[in-house]
Amino acid sequence: LSPASSHPQMEEASLLRGSNCRAKGAAPGFKVAILGAAGGIGQPLALLMKMNPLVSVLHLYDVVNTPGVTADISHMNTGAVVRGFLGQPQLENALTGMDLVIIPAGVPRKPGMTRDDLFNINAGIVRTLCEGIAKCCPKAIVNVISNPVNSTVPIAAEVFKKAGTYDPKRLLGVTTLDVVRANTFVGEVLGLDPREVNVPVIGGHAGVTILPLLSQVNPACSFTPEEVNHLTSRIQNGGTEVVEAKAGAGSATLSMAYAAAKFADACLRGLRGDAGIVECSYVASQVTELPFFASKVRLGRSGVEEILPLGPLNEFERTGLEKAKKELSASIQKGVSFINK
Ligand code: NAD
Ligand code: LMR
Repeated sequence: LSPASSHPQMEEASLLRGSNCRAKGAAPGFKVAILGAAGGIGQPLALLMKMNPLVSVLHLYDVVNTPGVTADISHMNTGAVVRGFLGQPQLENALTGMDLVIIPAGVPRKPGMTRDDLFNINAGIVRTLCEGIAKCCPKAIVNVISNPVNSTVPIAAEVFKKAGTYDPKRLLGVTTLDVVRANTFVGEVLGLDPREVNVPVIGGHAGVTILPLLSQVNPACSFTPEEVNHLTSRIQNGGTEVVEAKAGAGSATLSMAYAAAKFADACLRGLRGDAGIVECSYVASQVTELPFFASKVRLGRSGVEEILPLGPLNEFERTGLEKAKKELSASIQKGVSFINK
């Protein structure tokens, strides 16, 4: 099957010249696929990845609307060659040869819902997409955005285990938006440029499982107990704040695309061999007794090369960690059972 749209005008123009303008125009770099590329996150994420000089080929896959999104984005005069893929029959072509696959496919929350309420629909979507990855690009780094991340990452792991392709270093749940929010909100309270603030956020990506370590903020600072309560609650409920403001029209898409592009860029710089790339991510981990946990990880050529220790937690954070682990454990088990039932 040929791609739904792979800027045919450009191919026609290069044929007229007797040249291969795609080969000439394509920058050296990585091949990236976005699954769910026509959605609220997928479209701005596609735009940002088309702007990333580390990307040479960008595949946009969705079950709707990829021809239009692909035609639109392909007109940007940046290096990446863009190809669109529409519907399940084109999934395998979308995935073949990819170095990095980003998954924002699935339904978003409406007011009153938890992320876990999305499980029934999104679990099956993530399973199908990961079966495709196991078959067509088993060595790719996989960034899972689809909620509930606390369960969809264990689902992906079980699919890869069944296919015999599981490499825990290459499967990463995207929790960057929690860090992005934490840096923004802490920057507001401290009167600092948020780009200069770094807050580690550990645990998972839902409610109390989102645990900002305000005792470890860089640059070093201190907060009153009221500030700690306010900031922790705002960071844990940042997603709900957006869901309520959008009033039924979905959840965070633009800030999420920004966060996903930032995280994908870190993964690509790691793949390139850059040193000292550290991001928080929800990964297979031995940092606690749980099989998956979000914490700072060092990224490299093979994906997650090191999981950094949590560092000293204060009493407030230790209490938060116990609450987070209880909920996380159930969410992980739910994901594992979905595949093995
Ligand atoms: P959306 O509905 O706007 O877009 C989702 C896209 O997925 C749609 O284009 C849809 O056609 C596509 N899709 C559905 N089934 C598919 C399949 N089988 N294969 C490929 N594509 C498929 O939703 P959105 O706002 O982009 O959110 C997507 C997901 O990301 C949701 O689950 C949401 O909860 C999650 N999310 C996660 C974070 C995070 O921090 N990890 C942040 C925001 C949103
Ligand atoms: C977020 O944190 O914004 C996402 O997980 C979407 C949501 O449902 O809140």
